Amino acid sequence: MLVDAFKVASPNVTYTDDEIRSVYQYDSTKVSRTQDGEFVVQPTRTTYEFAVERRVPKLGVMLVGLGGNNGTTVAAGILANKHGITWMTKDGLRKPNYWGSLTQAATVRLGNFEGEEVHAPFKALLPMVEPNDIVLGGWDISGMNMAEAMERAAVLDFELQKQLVPYLKDVVPLPGIYDPAFIAANQEARADSLIKGSRQQQMDTVRRHIREFKAANGVDSVVVLWTANTERYSQLAEGLNDTADNLLASIKRDEAEIAPSTLYATACVLEGVPFVNGSPQNTFVPGLLELATARGVLIAGDDFKSGQTKMKSVLVDFLVGAGLKPTAIVSYNHLGNNDGMNLSAPATFRSKEISKSNVVDDMVASNSLLYGPGEHPDHVVVIKYVPYVGDSKRAMDEYTSEIFMGGRNTIVMHNTCEDSLLAAPIILDLVLLAELLTRVRLRRDGEESLHELHPVAALLSYLTKAPLVPQGVPVVNALSKQRAMLENFFRACVGLPPDSNMMLEFK
Ligand SMILES: NC(=O)c1ccc[n+]([C@@H]2O[C@H](COP(=O)([O-])OP(=O)(O)OC[C@H]3O[C@@H](n4cnc5c(N)ncnc54)[C@H](O)[C@@H]3O)[C@@H](O)[C@H]2O)c1
Repeated sequence: MLVDAFKVASPNVTYTDDEIRSVYQYDSTKVSRTQDGEFVVQPTRTTYEFAVERRVPKLGVMLVGLGGNNGTTVAAGILANKHGITWMTKDGLRKPNYWGSLTQAATVRLGNFEGEEVHAPFKALLPMVEPNDIVLGGWDISGMNMAEAMERAAVLDFELQKQLVPYLKDVVPLPGIYDPAFIAANQEARADSLIKGSRQQQMDTVRRHIREFKAANGVDSVVVLWTANTERYSQLAEGLNDTADNLLASIKRDEAEIAPSTLYATACVLEGVPFVNGSPQNTFVPGLLELATARGVLIAGDDFKSGQTKMKSVLVDFLVGAGLKPTAIVSYNHLGNNDGMNLSAPATFRSKEISKSNVVDDMVASNSLLYGPGEHPDHVVVIKYVPYVGDSKRAMDEYTSEIFMGGRNTIVMHNTCEDSLLAAPIILDLVLLAELLTRVRLRRDGEESLHELHPVAALLSYLTKAPLVPQGVPVVNALSKQRAMLENFFRACVGLPPDSNMMLEFK
């Protein structure tokens, strides 16, 4: 059974016109070691207070890479949903939806009503912006209008595209910051709409664009998300980008190693606007992390977890969790869209390789019964550009594991899917959740007053391949744990316990 709305009845939760407040008992464990070397595990209970602002803002979303496959698919998806546009295919009438979005198309279990399990939409837990209400804008280094860019992307059915042309033909992305040193040389032909000037001037222009976008559309807040080409890694160096002051000084000096993505992100932090990085490059250099943390501006990343890696973070969790030992994980991809063309250059491919390869680390580290010190499965990732398949990416994976009594088990998977149809709902989740997290405050027992969440939004890990977390915080890659983290956080904000799945009431 699905219920769209519900009320929490608990003495620990109060709803006012402005806020939801909950007092929450966080049950956890503390591990310590005695002088004799014995490990002791103690249950702990800490009281937290949460406050969530109920007023949902008019939200502006600015995508870097608006005219790309993901950007145009997000724009088209919102418009089709908003205007209820349907279209015919050879398989029948198609209706718009937000499938693939955790917030819009997934549910959470509330409990049991007269023998029937009761679920609610994920988005019903806390007040969130509706994707149909998003005001969308952004930048691209290609000055093509959005209707032609949608056609160039070749993601959506033609009958749908035809109906969207009137909405998109007059929309042209803002010019973007282009530095050919950071993306593949094969992108040069489309770079025809550029922000001119030094890095400082380029960053100032982006800051002005954000302010103008806000004012022109009357939006209360803005979230910026990078869905532009994957860049190569930028070099990290003392004095260059290691501290906030050094980063800002390097931008002023027009240092060549400051990447465009870092310029957009720094502009956002200086404007107090959340920035999410959907690509694998090291946009968040240490100086930028310091700046965002000092100014309390939400940042999140890196690299959307859409297909192959999502599957990996499920399958390896299952294997290791079942006491089986994955020993070789080999992943091939081929794709024919512009992202694939950009990734055909070794330096940009390397960024992707890094972000795809750390994804099993936490699961391997969780089971030293299977893996000895320093032991790790062989993990190889290959990406090839095959223009003919366009956005319809192929992913082939082979998982070999050692099983009972020296046996060997090999699982092979083949996945075909439009890459951007997987990424677009994730982009929406990222911006909707980023906005929501800016309206949450918390206080731990002993702290004087409510404060905002840590600006590095580890709660968005579910949506990213290489989750960005505050220093010293463990990275969680396993998909079910990432989902539980987010869901249980939402539940805590409305005073509900995590769903333990114990079902003691039936035992
Ligand atoms: N689609 C997925 O499933 C998926 C998953 C994970 C990560 N990603 C990443 O998302 C990004 C976008 O993917 P896509 O398929 O939309 O690629 P795309 O090449 O179609 O779109 C990227 C757009 O960014 C523009 N661009 C490049 N540099 C820019 C800059 N500095 N400023 C403004 N615009 C710029 C390009 O002109 C292009 O229109 C890629 O980096 C990709 O690796 C995609």
